[in-house]
Amino acid sequence: MQLIDAAITAVHGYVPDYVLTNKELETMVETNDEWIQSRTGIKQRHIQKEKGKATSDMCVEVVKGILEKSNTAPEDIDMIICATVTGDMVFPDTANTIADKAGLKNAFGYDINAACSGFLYGLTTGCQFIRTGMYKKVIVIGADKMSSIIDYTDRATCIIFGDGAGGVLLEPNHEGNGFQDAILKADGSGRDILHMKAGGSLKPSSVETIAAREHFVYQEGRHVFKKAVNGMINTTAELLKRNDLSVDDIDWVIPHQANIRIINAVADGLNCPMDKVMLNIEKYGNTTAGTLPLCLWDYEDQLKKGQNLVFTAFGGGLTWGSLYLKWAY
Ligand code: UT7
Repeated sequence: MQLIDAAITAVHGYVPDYVLTNKELETMVETNDEWIQSRTGIKQRHIQKEKGKATSDMCVEVVKGILEKSNTAPEDIDMIICATVTGDMVFPDTANTIADKAGLKNAFGYDINAACSGFLYGLTTGCQFIRTGMYKKVIVIGADKMSSIIDYTDRATCIIFGDGAGGVLLEPNHEGNGFQDAILKADGSGRDILHMKAGGSLKPSSVETIAAREHFVYQEGRHVFKKAVNGMINTTAELLKRNDLSVDDIDWVIPHQANIRIINAVADGLNCPMDKVMLNIEKYGNTTAGTLPLCLWDYEDQLKKGQNLVFTAFGGGLTWGSLYLKWAY
């Protein structure tokens, strides 16, 4: 079968208005701005505070921006994938809610639950629907309202996460640009070091699970840190090798924004100068599935047609991987 190249043709992002600063966190838990900045690189994060608003509402803003920028009618979208761990409800999936709210009358879609690697998984999946010729316009979104599952009495996690959404439109490309290759990995044996203990079928919500604060993110930070550094270096190095590329051939590395020290270690491990590495952790913190498309949104003006981009991420699952694409505009 002759595959058709799938390229990103529009990018948009959205973060809620409310800014939660390190200073404000100092009033909530035993922490300080200096510790947070030096250990994570984060200065602030955005929080969706309005009652009745959810992940889908951030995604609708992203979809609207994408449609406007690409001059696309809502009914022309064939498919929407939403990568998230904070869907509006356990079911139905958030992609359907977004399609309804944004008027994507002819789109089908679904959610992908791959935590911080969600956008990588979603982008890879969405591209395959274009490559086979099955669909012509696919939206892939990475979005999380992390504030809905964060324990703001736990200083080990509440300082890291923020809310945000970003997404892309994928369309066929006939100039050799777009998706080139991806290596995606998963290791379920690591599920215990980053997860939410209750609320699923293993431990349904109960008075006891609420009292035990088991509906929040649980993370063994140091463990995750080491695995994230190794995982992202390994899949990126393997991806470069199998595509006959060196770091010099790469214009931009887009790493998951979990911790500036992780990003520095990954860049170091790949011998990649930091001026090729997209960074915005300072402004948004870790928005889980939102970090990669939010980076694209922030750096869109600096991207040039034909440039080589490598994405890499690591997160709960455990899930991780790297993706190589050529920028198309
Ligand atoms: O995005 C999904 C994947 N997630 C990640 O990639 C995150 C990976 N992990 C991390 O980014 C880091 O492990 C954290 C930012 C979560 C924690 O940083 P760390 O340098 O690994 O700190 P630590 O857990 O080793 O703790 C060092 C010390 C401890 O005190 P003692 O035992 O040395 O006295 C902690 O209690 O720092 C203390 N600490 C804090 N102090 C001030 C932990 N959190 C805080 C805090 N403020 N917020």
